[in-house]
Amino acid sequence: MQTLLGVDWRRAWIERGQRRRAPSDSAYWDQRSQEFKEHSGISKYTDTFLNLLPLEPGWSVLDMGTGPGTLAIPLAQRGHPVIAADFSPGMIRAAQERAADLGLDTIQFTTLDWGEDWQAAGIHPKSVDVAVASRSTIVVDLGDALDKLNATARHLAAITMVTEFSPRGFKPRGSVQDDTDAFIPDFIFGVNALFQMGAYPALHYIDTIHGNDDNAGKNLVRWAYIAWKPVERPTETTEVAPPAENRVR
Ligand SMILES: C[S@@+](CC[C@H](N)C(=O)[O-])C[C@H]1O[C@@H](n2cnc3c(N)ncnc32)[C@H](O)[C@@H]1O
Repeated sequence: MQTLLGVDWRRAWIERGQRRRAPSDSAYWDQRSQEFKEHSGISKYTDTFLNLLPLEPGWSVLDMGTGPGTLAIPLAQRGHPVIAADFSPGMIRAAQERAADLGLDTIQFTTLDWGEDWQAAGIHPKSVDVAVASRSTIVVDLGDALDKLNATARHLAAITMVTEFSPRGFKPRGSVQDDTDAFIPDFIFGVNALFQMGAYPALHYIDTIHGNDDNAGKNLVRWAYIAWKPVERPTETTEVAPPAENRVR
């Protein structure tokens, strides 16, 4: 019988990614920034995400992949010092415009790519109380993204990931039907990779209605909210093995 004990979920994400379309570049997100800006504002999704976040008054937050400031703006309105980061200059501009319209001048905006060296970009280890990434872990290397959030936050990190499988992500000529891993939704990789990092992620679900709701129920999008207390990480880990005392002999 096949065993799951040896699955390296970080590597499995990268391998599955090679059978999918590459994540979109910043120019793609620039183009979508006005549309995102128009649809931003407080929503049931934002409300639920923020209610799930156990924030102490005044805690600082990094919002990675902020888009039009979806979480950064309500967090700043609640008095939190916020760093709003995104690799799309268009999204950063949209977020800045929204903040200016609301008279908010306490958000620090920064152009940042998941893939770049965060320390060189001024985002240092344990430099914020909480690091969040809402619907934005659209990356080749999920393990690296989780490591970066994990390293940056002092108290908590939280992300949302899709709970559904979407064949749209697959390369047109890939054999999706034969690719059983293809049907594992993103959030399973997130939870399992975090567990293998030594974290114990908390899991909640946020249901949203996508687009107009003429076909009630059909447009339901369920997001997984995954939060964890940062864990100390060894600098180099490529091999995933269970702790010696748990090994099956
Ligand atoms: C679906 S939007 C989510 C925006 C916002 N966080 C929200 O929940 O409404 C994804 C965001 O991730 C950003 N993003 C995608 N890939 C990124 C990368 N490699 N580095 C930084 N940001 C990225 C996009 O520019 C976009 O703003």
